[in-house]
Amino acid sequence: MMVGVPRESFPGERRVAIVPAAVTSLIKAGLEVLVESDAGLEAGYTNSEYDSKGAKIALSRGDVFARADIIAQVLCCGANDLTGAADLPLLRRGQFLIGFMRPMGTLETVQAIASTGVTSFAVELMPRTTRAQSMDALSSMATASGYKAVLIAADTLPRIFPMLTTAAGTITPARVLIIGVGVAGLQAIATARRLGAVVSAYDVRPAVKEQVQSLGGRFVELPLEVKDAQDAGGYAKAQDESFYQRQRELLGKVIAESDVVITTAVVPGKKAPVLVTKEMVTGMAQGSVVVELAAERGGNCELTKSGEKISVNGVTIIGWVNLASSVPYHASQMYSKNVSNFLLNMVKDGKVNVNLQDDIVSSTLVTEGGEIVNSRIREQFGLPALAQVG
Ligand code: NAI
Repeated sequence: MMVGVPRESFPGERRVAIVPAAVTSLIKAGLEVLVESDAGLEAGYTNSEYDSKGAKIALSRGDVFARADIIAQVLCCGANDLTGAADLPLLRRGQFLIGFMRPMGTLETVQAIASTGVTSFAVELMPRTTRAQSMDALSSMATASGYKAVLIAADTLPRIFPMLTTAAGTITPARVLIIGVGVAGLQAIATARRLGAVVSAYDVRPAVKEQVQSLGGRFVELPLEVKDAQDAGGYAKAQDESFYQRQRELLGKVIAESDVVITTAVVPGKKAPVLVTKEMVTGMAQGSVVVELAAERGGNCELTKSGEKISVNGVTIIGWVNLASSVPYHASQMYSKNVSNFLLNMVKDGKVNVNLQDDIVSSTLVTEGGEIVNSRIREQFGLPALAQVG
């Protein structure tokens, strides 16, 4: 079977789904690899590197879709909500598609993917199990985004991050607050600490306190009773509006004392909770910076404009999306490892074996044979349950 790697078409996207280093392991498993010419160039991977690992180079996107049995993308239709639909006529029944699909996004889009007949797998649905850890693309991209968010904040802040003792006096360190301590938040804490900032962090899940402290951060304890903070998968559970209201009241003081606020708080399948209000932003000092990592989900800061950098009363609010794409070399390297591990888990003797007894396969499978077959997605969209998979 042939794995096709098209060039990413989302405007500004610089990552590539498979890097040359992964080609060797795919070929060893009995697969062939076909890469669209220059698909890896913006991430720093040239055609000749792919060629030297044994991949074939296709001159057109159409050629990749026509010849490949398995399409590996970073942003498939769905996650690519600008140009992704152009791929739909290129997909066919029985072909496999792997990538970010935003499967909880809109029913119309997931149905459009289903109607091509393609057997699609959304990497967002990877279970959070030890066995699936090396396939967890969300965590890889969150790592890159958390790192980059801090660099953007440091570059925007009119202050220096570390404490400096100079002949011209002492410079006090920047105070950085991270709201939401998942994978992105943890990487943001580590990066801000490396740059010398004084870091505080808050999460509804009390279990993260130790992780924050082990990275040299201060865990912000709010006198709030959190019922049922996380589900079995380790994800935060949604709280009611009165909880968020109280949370905002209590967070206000900490935010006012921070030079930088990085927000990452999300609940799977839900709009991001608003935790930073306009009033709270107004209470921050001139020159302060808010970097929003939840912009695609509506934002934790009520002023965030997705994809934009704005200024309100001297506070800069950055809502750029797709930050992982701005470190494309390593983001692609990690993504490629996740996707090839996922694929290799399903390949037996050079063929894809969709084994629904494997929770990695059944959790990520979204469409097959013209239908949306994933029970979680069907439930999300209020579709009747199918007798088949889950
Ligand atoms: P995420 O991207 O879903 O959410 C980011 C963070 O926001 C989470 O820590 C969440 O608790 C927090 N949050 C949600 N609502 C909040 C609120 N109102 N106020 C403050 N914080 C709020 O999280 P991510 O990065 O996906 O991690 C979720 C969990 O899954 C973590 O425990 C992580 O360590 C775990 N995980 C486990 C893996 C595995 O076992 N293979 C792999 C990756 C993550």
